[in-house]
Amino acid sequence: GDVAVLVPAAGAGLRLGPGGPKALRLLAGEPLLVHAVRRVAAAPSVRLIIVAAPAADVEAVRALLAPVAPVTVVAGGAERQHSVAAALAAVPEDVGVVLVHDAARALTPPELVESVAAAVRGGCAAVIPVLPVVDTIKEVGSAGAEGPSGPAEVVLGTVDRAVLRSVQTPQGFRRDVLAAAHAAGLAAHTDDAGMVEKAGIPVTCVPGSDLAMKITRPLDLVIAEALLHVA
Ligand code: C5P
Repeated sequence: GDVAVLVPAAGAGLRLGPGGPKALRLLAGEPLLVHAVRRVAAAPSVRLIIVAAPAADVEAVRALLAPVAPVTVVAGGAERQHSVAAALAAVPEDVGVVLVHDAARALTPPELVESVAAAVRGGCAAVIPVLPVVDTIKEVGSAGAEGPSGPAEVVLGTVDRAVLRSVQTPQGFRRDVLAAAHAAGLAAHTDDAGMVEKAGIPVTCVPGSDLAMKITRPLDLVIAEALLHVA
């Protein structure tokens, strides 16, 4: 394999107990982070996985993941970007392709990891898995008046969903491209491709997977549990 996968899981409040953050929420008795790492490790292109954990939990996360796959655990930073940068710093020089993956997308199939990695290897500087938007999307604003549950919202317009995509992870990068975006110290973004995009580098889309859904709401856990039979 020629690919390193970074998993930022150093959000404040990460604790190996109940009621903790989403990376450690249990799905069929195992933390989401465990499910995610197991599937990433099953992708043949992956040479190493680097997880960023809160400094105080590095040892605990190391112990949690040791039986799952060979994983490097580093201390994360104050912001998600700092955690990604800390993980990136642990990537060996000869690794050319770097993926950043969200532990909450715990059922992401190894095939999606492979397709993102293949696109980067094929010459794309940055790659994101996307899905079409199925809902009609409205832009809204405050009406000023009070509604039944606070200030009422009114529709300002309807966005053409044909040109919109939902973005998943893993997001893939040529190593130098991700490193340069981080070195530029660009303002916080909700995803790494956002940083690269702001730097003017083209970001290529590949088809995402329903299995790469972000498991955040209680309903998602119910769906994910049902999906475990096929994922
Ligand atoms: O808090 P938020 O939902 O934006 O976090 C997104 C992801 O980034 C989570 O997996 C979280 O653990 C991670 N993160 C991190 N280091 C931080 C803050 C968040 O690795 N300092």
